Amino acid sequence: MRGYTIAVLPGDGIGPEVTAEAERVLRAAGTRFGIQLTTPHFPVGAAGVAAAGDPLPDETRAAVHRADAVLLGAVGDPALDRAPRHLKPETGLLALRALLGVYANLRPVAVFPPLTDRSPLKAERLHGVDVLIVRELTGGLYYGEPRGRDGSRAVNTLVYTTAEIARVARVAFEAAQGRRRLVTSVDKANVLEVSQLWRDTVTTIGHEYPDVRLEHLYVDHAAMRLVTDPSAFDVILTENMFGDILSDEAAVLTGALGLLPSASLGAGAGLFEHGLGLPAAADAVEQAIGTVLAAGARTRDIAEPGEPGLGTREMGERIANLMRNAECGVRSEGTPANSALPTPHSALE
Ligand code: IPM
Ligand code: MG
Repeated sequence: MRGYTIAVLPGDGIGPEVTAEAERVLRAAGTRFGIQLTTPHFPVGAAGVAAAGDPLPDETRAAVHRADAVLLGAVGDPALDRAPRHLKPETGLLALRALLGVYANLRPVAVFPPLTDRSPLKAERLHGVDVLIVRELTGGLYYGEPRGRDGSRAVNTLVYTTAEIARVARVAFEAAQGRRRLVTSVDKANVLEVSQLWRDTVTTIGHEYPDVRLEHLYVDHAAMRLVTDPSAFDVILTENMFGDILSDEAAVLTGALGLLPSASLGAGAGLFEHGLGLPAAADAVEQAIGTVLAAGARTRDIAEPGEPGLGTREMGERIANLMRNAECGVRSEGTPANSALPTPHSALE
C-alpha cells in the first residue's frame, strides 16, 4: 500500500471546519484507492500565534518539510488586524509559501451545472466557463523590499526578475497544453516597468510552446472580460497581486467561492492530482462532489434563498459516503462522467 503524510494546517475561522471535511473525503478516497494517509495537525495563522506566539511556529515549519503535501484551511482573525506585521496571521501564510517555494498557484474555476442559478451572471454567459488561473505566488508586491510605514508615508515595492516570471510562465504554458491551448497573460504594461518585463518574458517563453496561443491583456480589461465573456479564457497567467484579485472575481462567477480549490506548487505541496500525482483519486472526489450537488445537496452558502441548507459536516459526510461506495465509477477516456454512478437518490439515501 502506498503511504503519504499530509500535514494538515487548519488555521483560523472556517479553516478547521472545512479542513475536517476535506480530510474526511481524502480518507475515503484513500480507502478506496489503497492509499494510506497519515494526517498530523499543526497550527498556522492566529492559531499559531495562540499556540506558540508565531503565525508559523517552528514545529509547523519542520512538519511541512517532512510531509509529502500540506492541506491548509484559511488564515485571518479580525482581532489581529492591528497587530504588528510579524504577528499577523497572513504573515504566517506568506512565510509558509516562501518556505516551501511554492511559486505557482493554480486556481481552477469551473461552473458546476447544478449551481448555475447561484451565479450573479446570467446562465447563458456561464456556458463553457472553465478557467485555470496561474498566479505567481512568492514574488511581487507581497514580498518586495523595501516596505514599511513611517507615519503618514508607507511603501511597498513591486519587483520581479526574469527568472521568476519565466518559471511560472512555463507552468501556465504546460497547463494549457493539456487544456484548450490558450494562455492569457495579464499585466499593466501600459503603466508599469515590471509589467513590461513580464510581457517580454512571457512572450519569449511562449516561443518554446508554439502549439499554445498567447494573448496579453491589461488587468483592468481582463477584470471586465471575466464578467462579460468568461468562457473566452482558458489559462490566465498573472502576477501575485493581480492574481489575488482576479481569482476572487473569477471564483464568484460560479456562485460559490467556497467550492473552489487552490493548489500551490513548487515544492512538495498540493494534493492528489497536482501534488501526489493521483489523478484517479482526484477524479473520483470531483465526481462525488458533482453527484451530491446534482442530487440537490447544498451547504448554507450556496442554498436557495430561504432554504436552510446543510452543515459543512453533513455535506462532507455525504461526499465521503459516496466515495466509499464501491459502485462509484472512475471517469476514464470515452466514458460519460457519470455513467457508472448510482442514481443520485440511491447514492444519497
Ligand atoms: C489568498 C488570500 C491570501 C492572499 C491572504 C490571506 C494573505 O487572499 O490566498 O488569495 O492574498 O494571497
Ligand atoms: Mg485572495
